Amino acid sequence: MTEPESNADLAQASAAVRAANGVTPAVGVVLGSGLGAFADTLGSLVKVPYSRIPGMPVPGVVGHAGNLCLGEVGGAAVACLQGRVHAYEGLPLERIVFAARLLAELGCRAVLLTNAAGGIRADLTPGSLMLITDHINLMGRNPLVGPNDPVGPRFPDMSEAYDPALRAAAHDAAQATGAELAEGVYAALLGPTYETPAEIRMLRTIGADAVGMSTVPEVIALRHRGVGVGAVSCITNLAAGIGDAPLDHSEVEETAGLTRGRFTALLAKWVELVGARVE
Ligand code: HPA
Repeated sequence: MTEPESNADLAQASAAVRAANGVTPAVGVVLGSGLGAFADTLGSLVKVPYSRIPGMPVPGVVGHAGNLCLGEVGGAAVACLQGRVHAYEGLPLERIVFAARLLAELGCRAVLLTNAAGGIRADLTPGSLMLITDHINLMGRNPLVGPNDPVGPRFPDMSEAYDPALRAAAHDAAQATGAELAEGVYAALLGPTYETPAEIRMLRTIGADAVGMSTVPEVIALRHRGVGVGAVSCITNLAAGIGDAPLDHSEVEETAGLTRGRFTALLAKWVELVGARVE
């Protein structure tokens, strides 16, 4: 079988990043809407703009900076994606997960993903942090469609997509930083429209606690490569029809901004704990 074309692209991208900083990262971090500030807290920070990484798609959404940030947190070498591309931007899903696969290619043994999400369950109000325990993929797409890349199985098991040890570490980090951390199921929709109230009622009925437009493709691509995954949603708004106000991206950014301190502290501790375990 010939090598999938994307692997040659990944090797090239990885070489460009390594030229900027030769340190092999142990932990990868993906920062969602309005949550990019964490990357600026890294020690020995080296920023590589996505535009300088061959093959790397550049995000087009406000609040997504577009830098791969290399550095150190609590003794752990980290590669951090400051901004992501979303499926609704129109690229094939294979391109959407390129950056996540690059984290694996660079050597990350665990990847912690973050996103902004709408709260469906009653206790998930704006400013809540929710550790994702499982997901429902309603994007109607999957990044593994097509010939199987033999880096992983044709039919990957997803029964524990969100690694139990990484989840335990997230709770330890929450306790250490005094942050409240809920748990729940994340439903991923394609967007870019926000949901209708009827869709939110459906999502609640089928077991979703929060809703967003990202993360799931990356989780699937990383699990396919055997990389351990953990994910936290910052609940930035009540899902459609739960509150009175219409949804607006500026509300998402604003709430993410207000959560920044708590979120960054939790994430830093989480990376430190995970780094010590995968080293
Ligand atoms: N729906 C979908 N995606 C989102 C939301 C939402 O309510 N909030 C932030 N991202």
